Amino acid sequence: MVRTAVVTGASSGIGKAVAAALVAKGYQVIGTSRKPESLRDEQRAPGVEYRALDVTDTASISTFAAGLDVVDVLVNNAGESQAGPLAELPDDAVARLFQLNVLGPVALTRAVLPGMRERRFGRVVMVGSMLGSFPMPYRSSYVATKAALRGFATAARFEESPFGVWITAVEPGQVNTGLRERRTKYLTENSPHTTDFTAFMAKLDQKQGEGITPAKVAETVVRAIEANRPKPLYAVGSAAPVMFLLRRVLPRSVMERLIARSYGLSR
Ligand SMILES: NC(=O)c1ccc[n+]([C@@H]2O[C@H](COP(=O)([O-])OP(=O)(O)OC[C@H]3O[C@@H](n4cnc5c(N)ncnc54)[C@H](OP(=O)(O)O)[C@@H]3O)[C@@H](O)[C@H]2O)c1
Repeated sequence: MVRTAVVTGASSGIGKAVAAALVAKGYQVIGTSRKPESLRDEQRAPGVEYRALDVTDTASISTFAAGLDVVDVLVNNAGESQAGPLAELPDDAVARLFQLNVLGPVALTRAVLPGMRERRFGRVVMVGSMLGSFPMPYRSSYVATKAALRGFATAARFEESPFGVWITAVEPGQVNTGLRERRTKYLTENSPHTTDFTAFMAKLDQKQGEGITPAKVAETVVRAIEANRPKPLYAVGSAAPVMFLLRRVLPRSVMERLIARSYGLSR
């Protein structure tokens, strides 16, 4: 039986790698892009059918969801990275980020859940971020979206798992994709945060450039999808097993100092 998977944001990075990995596993894969018609060959994962979806646009979500037939697997991957001191983030930028990283994925999930429940099979993967578990400065809006996404996933899985529908969060650490070039940054002129923000972002970009490959994340996503009883949370990259272990044993204040030091921030 050929299962159908939908992967949002399948034109680059993690989404493209997940789409390719699912094709290799024999899934029929529908990948999304805001502009599928203008994707270059190298942006397309072979064997994937590309459809239009803008997750910041509720009408686009409805049209896309209405065009779906059977969906066995949904990977909510499309997302944006945002940075800036909390006090300086424009309201509309924060709202856009929550629509793209949280409300859109939640709307898509709600659209496919009834069919999955009826067929007694479904897998939903929310691509979060380790930042959702290990907050960092100047990333408050992004951290909050990823923590919110994990909240939706880990709570709703209790509701749906009795029907064979498993919702899982996958939190990648640093992954070497083009995300950092597309990151939206907000810093006002003469901001008191300029020095720390600039140093932090340089370190962050350097760490992301040294991050794991999108294919490595795709392996974890596929493992979550193919598990009989997927775990609530998978993490990959940025020494995830050590970080989660330390978080369990160290006081939060010590953990916070360790993270600050690794990014060259004084506390
Ligand atoms: N890279 C990392 O280090 C890292 C770490 C942890 C978590 N993540 C998460 O992993 C996911 C993928 O990140 P990535 O690094 O692979 O990023 P990426 O290379 O920038 O890819 C982002 C994808 O999202 C799509 N997208 C962007 N805005 C969209 C919108 N408004 N509506 C629909 N699709 C949209 C893009 O497609 P089009 O431009 O074709 O529309 C693209 O395919 C994100 O959720 C990110 O937060 C990344």
